[in-house]
Amino acid sequence: WPRTSGRTGGVITIGGVDVRDLAKEHGTPLYVIDEEDFRSRCRDHKAAFHGGEVHYAGKAFLCREVARWIDQEGLGLDVCSAGELAVALSVGFPPERITMHGNNKSLAELERAVEVGVGHIVVDSYEEIARLGFLAERHGRRPKVMIRVTVGVEAHTHEFIATAHDDQKFGLSLSSGAAAEAVRRILALPQLELVGLHSHIGSQITDTAGFEVAARRLATLLVDVKNEHGVVLPELDLGGGYGIPYVQGDDAPDIKVVADSLHEIVTKTCQAAGLPVPRLTVEPGRAIAGLAGVTLYEVGTVKDVEGLRTYVSVDGGMSDNIRTALYGADYTAVMASRDTEAGPMLSRLVGKHCESGDMIVRDLWLPEDLVPGDLIAVAATGAYCRSLANNYNYLPKPAVVAVSGGRSRVIVRGETVEDLLRGQL
Ligand code: LLP
Repeated sequence: WPRTSGRTGGVITIGGVDVRDLAKEHGTPLYVIDEEDFRSRCRDHKAAFHGGEVHYAGKAFLCREVARWIDQEGLGLDVCSAGELAVALSVGFPPERITMHGNNKSLAELERAVEVGVGHIVVDSYEEIARLGFLAERHGRRPKVMIRVTVGVEAHTHEFIATAHDDQKFGLSLSSGAAAEAVRRILALPQLELVGLHSHIGSQITDTAGFEVAARRLATLLVDVKNEHGVVLPELDLGGGYGIPYVQGDDAPDIKVVADSLHEIVTKTCQAAGLPVPRLTVEPGRAIAGLAGVTLYEVGTVKDVEGLRTYVSVDGGMSDNIRTALYGADYTAVMASRDTEAGPMLSRLVGKHCESGDMIVRDLWLPEDLVPGDLIAVAATGAYCRSLANNYNYLPKPAVVAVSGGRSRVIVRGETVEDLLRGQL
């Protein structure tokens, strides 16, 4: 739950705002973001990685207001499409603090990044190195590039979000020599400035050993580059992926401990080879946005499937949170709008979409006296819920409101069916 949330008489408040008032004013489903929680986690990461750079991974959740918060808190921003870049630039986010990612950036996306002068472009293929060389020359610019290295770590997380083993689409492999070849190719192009190496091993990772192995391998490659080319690369970007607790008992890495250990590993590896310590960057998304967000739903039907469980249907589902259907994610959800003495009932929290996989929480206990109209709050939905939202069954995407100091304000308007019809011939 967000840092400023509380519960009185069974009613949840977030940022000092009663969820019943939020539902009344803005409707449901509703994404609620605790501004103070979000900002304080930006500061925590900055403090933990002091001396390094923290770039928020916009894919977790980005809108214009969030881009302003990131800017005000002094973080950088990681974007991976022209769209994310446009959001940032539209609020005057300084391009030099933006890193451009992606395994298949279009020529237009690369060109835009070069043109506006983003701080870093992380290259992910040989084709991209050539394209970037061409664009740099055309624009008379010398972009700073990093190489996304596949370090060969088995991150213990869902297959779809593990990215450091060789058999997946991202990066240039360390073990096959592709990363070293990419270094050669970039150094052969004087219009590109190779400034460092990047790795991102996956997401929602709770065992920190993988980050440490990745940091060591990346630092070792830095040493190899110095030995082969006589070039000292000044930066290492260690990506994101720090897990958060979704349900009680979930482990989550202590960011301060991780930061110290990564810093120590890189320092030792470089110093042993007589290299200066590179500047470290990390790219947390979920660890900043995840716990700041809560989704509010209204209960529509309560169906007892005799002898099995009770299906509680709410007014959203896999269109506003696809993570349960996609990754088998686990969430904490509670009845949020009143007090009750009723006992627990084995439930499944489901959406209103036309498939049985449309679940938000597979197994949970809700009060036996639950009725239509009650509000359900689902915790830790700040990351990868709104950003993965879709319009399945023509459901409009819910609004996002920011709460702080007892007030709420819309930061992304909810869609309407008219919005969905616009553009159809
Ligand atoms: N940097 C790069 C290059 C990334 O690809 C990602 C996430 C991050 C940083 C931030 O990772 P985080 O700190 O948020 O774990 N949709 C999935 C997560 C996909 C993550 C994609 N890349 C989910 O809902 O779990």
